[in-house]
Amino acid sequence: MPDITLTTLHGLKARGEKIAMLTCYDATFAQAASSAGVEMLLVGDTLGMILHGHDSTLPVQVEDVAYHTECVRRGNVGAFIVADLPFMSYATVEQALQNAGRLMKAGAHMVKLEGDRWLAESVKRLTQNGVPVCAHLGLTPQSVNVLGGFKVQGRDPVRARQLIEDAITLEEAGAAMLLVECMPSPLAEQLSQAVRIPVIGIGAGAGTDGQVLVLHDMLGLSLTGHTPKFVRNFLAGQDSIQSALQSYVAAVKSSEFPGAEHGYAM
Ligand code: KIV
Repeated sequence: MPDITLTTLHGLKARGEKIAMLTCYDATFAQAASSAGVEMLLVGDTLGMILHGHDSTLPVQVEDVAYHTECVRRGNVGAFIVADLPFMSYATVEQALQNAGRLMKAGAHMVKLEGDRWLAESVKRLTQNGVPVCAHLGLTPQSVNVLGGFKVQGRDPVRARQLIEDAITLEEAGAAMLLVECMPSPLAEQLSQAVRIPVIGIGAGAGTDGQVLVLHDMLGLSLTGHTPKFVRNFLAGQDSIQSALQSYVAAVKSSEFPGAEHGYAM
């Protein structure tokens, strides 16, 4: 068992304490981030872009995520590990069960799936089978070709209402956590208040229960030269990566990060 469990994370939400999460893909950074106080490590399918140099997350395979989850597990010091089910690895409930099993055996404590209410049956069956689920709503990069690009989601009132209803449906199906990406800050705050489970945001303002960033982004590294507006370089002004990680945790916990300039309006 990790030191940080689902019970810990749900307790943090109940007490209004912010949760700090980062993506992580290897043992050395897992040790550095978890010992700096990062409570959740996400073995995200961004590994396809950050580590493998692809221009989207679509080429990532379950075995890629399993391999990096094993690496993270070896370096982790007590953090809660979430692993992404990659593109087309949960198109049916059976696929979701089989592939989630692979990631849990590799060392994940929870799996993350991108999608809305259509995931409800998979969320229910995974949870019944002992796999905690985080559902990823808003900008879902695996659907970039359906969405027509990496765009802020939920700006119009109808879509905003749908996203809140999706969040409630997924909680009722058994989701233990939600991750919301690139949605207007007021909507993300409203959505976080509409559910009892923790909601982690990226590009979703300061009103969520926690924050996640891509590790390389917050250390000022970019393969493409493009830095999203919701990113802050935490290494700037610090003398080590360890201090940068500690400063990220402190900024999330105190709600100093993200600032209004990192969010999107309705
Ligand atoms: O895959 C990933 O790294 C993610 C983050 C963008 C939150 O889902």
